[in-house]
Amino acid sequence: MNLPFEPYRIKVVERIHRVSRPERSRLLAEAGYNVFKIPSEAIYVDLLTDSGTGAMSDRQWAALMTGDEAYAQSRSWGEFESVVKDIFGYGHVIPTHQGRAAEGLLFAVAVKPGQVVPSNIHFDTTRANVEHVGGIALDCVDDQGLDPALEAPFKGDMSLAKLAAAFEKYGRDRIPLVMLTITNNSGGGQPVSLANIRAVSAFCREMGVPLIFDACRFAENAWFIQQREEAFREWSIPDICREVFSLGDGCTMSAKKDGLVNIGGFLCLNDDALALQVTNLLILREGFPTYGGLAGRDLAALAQGLREVMDPDYLAYRIGQVARLGGRLQELGVPFLKPAGGHAIYLDARAALPHIPQEQFPAQAFTAALYLEGGVRAVEIGSLMFDHRDPDTGKVVHPAMELVRLAVPRRVYTQTQLDYVAEVCARVVAEGERLRGLEITYQPPALRHFTAELQPVGGGDLMAGESV
Ligand code: F0G
Repeated sequence: MNLPFEPYRIKVVERIHRVSRPERSRLLAEAGYNVFKIPSEAIYVDLLTDSGTGAMSDRQWAALMTGDEAYAQSRSWGEFESVVKDIFGYGHVIPTHQGRAAEGLLFAVAVKPGQVVPSNIHFDTTRANVEHVGGIALDCVDDQGLDPALEAPFKGDMSLAKLAAAFEKYGRDRIPLVMLTITNNSGGGQPVSLANIRAVSAFCREMGVPLIFDACRFAENAWFIQQREEAFREWSIPDICREVFSLGDGCTMSAKKDGLVNIGGFLCLNDDALALQVTNLLILREGFPTYGGLAGRDLAALAQGLREVMDPDYLAYRIGQVARLGGRLQELGVPFLKPAGGHAIYLDARAALPHIPQEQFPAQAFTAALYLEGGVRAVEIGSLMFDHRDPDTGKVVHPAMELVRLAVPRRVYTQTQLDYVAEVCARVVAEGERLRGLEITYQPPALRHFTAELQPVGGGDLMAGESV
């Protein structure tokens, strides 16, 4: 039997409600066809993100009660620091309230204006934090990671040729560090192989440049290494993690993913001088070095979460659940980026809705339709998020892919609920021809996808022929 068996039973439940279709239609129009603006109570299955949306275990809830809230040197800090050092193996552990705070601190100290930070693909917040200090964020993912239809085991791998070309073009002195995002969220939640990590690490060491992991989904990445890389088939997950991190010089971490908590993050570094500078900035921005931006109880729950996330039964269920959602979508003929990612499925809106041109936001229209059809909330990763102007011509450049991410929160939804999501996706694809493109009625100057408002082109209904 190849079922993604849940290795737990349910002790606490939270009621969810399905609002009626006319109500969903009204809410969608009021929200300007932007699902970020729809109240959570009106969402039936919420796959907006896997970040901070997971369910904690009974042991984590127990840890909350026994957390030590001392300002300095609390017992919970000690527990947290020792678990992080055990898994990641770096000399300095710096707690922050979430991942982007760790990124902001690191880049504020390590990156100077005009310097270049290569990664496989930067997540939006690492890109924004690099750019905020005047740096250039460069994506060097192997070309296989840019082909949505290609089935390959490690589409998150970095291209050594692109990395070497960056060093050639900018020179070693303009590259203060190299990042590697495991798994590669912006490229479909695809893993990076240990072979690739070793090669990137060897290259960085030869160049004398530190390698820093964006480690949010490190346990999911380790699972893929164990399952897909022959040489590591017999290795345990903790051993794979230790090997991965030994090849780098530090990591940024959003603990809202593989920390199995609702808030939290940290930064690890080996370099004493860099860690000292970051710690001084931490005191200014986040808090004292033994709590960062977190309560003692948050650190206690996180220490427990980090132990649980490497459980092979949990990972088999977790990755298996997302893979099974992919399998259902495949059976139902819904196009998505192959293979299924670790934390999410990325639907291919261009393939599903060929009649909607990119300037009419096909992925956003698909996202709105998922809510209208079944109360499912996904997130657009397409033109609304990534359109930009060419600095030379001033023309709008659309992204290569129009994706709709179905991110699966950890330990939250059952297989039945995800089967329902697959049915809703299939219904939207079946009705696809009736779905209309969108036009913007309001947009802010930056990061517009969060707050932009839209309407079906020329007004009227999202689905042609449907009266609201
Ligand atoms: N790096 C990656 C790869 C991420 O996916 C995220 C967050 C961050 C850094 C930033 O962490 O949110 O704790 O500040 N990703 C969320 C998502 C928001 O929906 O994918 P944060």
